[in-house]
Amino acid sequence: MSTRMPVSPGKLITLEGIEGAGKSTLAQFVSAWLGRHGITVRLTREPGGTALAERVRQIVLERGAEPVSPITETLLMFAARALHVQNLIRPTLARGEWVVCDRFTDATRAYQGSGRGVDAALIDALALAVHGDLQPDCTLLLDLPVRAGLARARTRPGATADRFEAESLGFFEKVRAGYLALARREPQRFRIIDAAAPLAEVEQRIAEALAQLPARELRA
Ligand SMILES: Nc1ncnc2c1ncn2[C@@H]1O[C@H](COP(=O)(O)OP(=O)(O)OP(=O)(O)O)[C@@H](O)[C@H]1O
Ligand SMILES: [Mg+2]
Repeated sequence: MSTRMPVSPGKLITLEGIEGAGKSTLAQFVSAWLGRHGITVRLTREPGGTALAERVRQIVLERGAEPVSPITETLLMFAARALHVQNLIRPTLARGEWVVCDRFTDATRAYQGSGRGVDAALIDALALAVHGDLQPDCTLLLDLPVRAGLARARTRPGATADRFEAESLGFFEKVRAGYLALARREPQRFRIIDAAAPLAEVEQRIAEALAQLPARELRA
């Protein structure tokens, strides 16, 4: 008779920061690093990550004629997140695979909460309804001055400004401050990474943070 070890659930690693901080670039690095250390990884992003959630992403990011209020934006973000959590994130973690996600609920707290003034208690209530006890195991906050981030985002190949990238410097200052306040509130979960540093240095800092994760499946 064969006895199988129960699968220990995978971990959820999220990357956060303003536009141009390097989230998408470093999400690839995180996935590759974990892969080299024996972990099966699913790389995904928000808003989006499943077929339906990507359609919601299109609605919430496109710059169209019809106004999208802060509360509408918040509900759309959570609608996309509900699809993503139910249909991709939870099933992947349950199989013992890890999920690396380019943005998650902290982005809603920073952008819709700090940036647009949506009530933090409402965002927390929606987070509880949509993903309950599911929290990132580690959140890498890529922090850099707003001007530097926006300059990178705008010079990226094929860049076209979405509804957020068209926002003012003042908006992104609020978002950045919001992220830093979240990190101060939960220092165990967050790692603040200086994303203004050269890419190789940012990768080094991230590798150090990943190596410290308490996970027996992580090979040296
Ligand atoms: N540390 C770094 N030093 C220099 N350039 C960087 C660094 N990190 C990322 N970049 C470059 O900055 C640009 C933006 O990076 P990236 O697309 O990963 O940011 P992002 O946080 O995903 O942005 P967005 O929120 O708009 O999706 C890319 O051209 C990337 O190569
Ligand atoms: Mg990106």
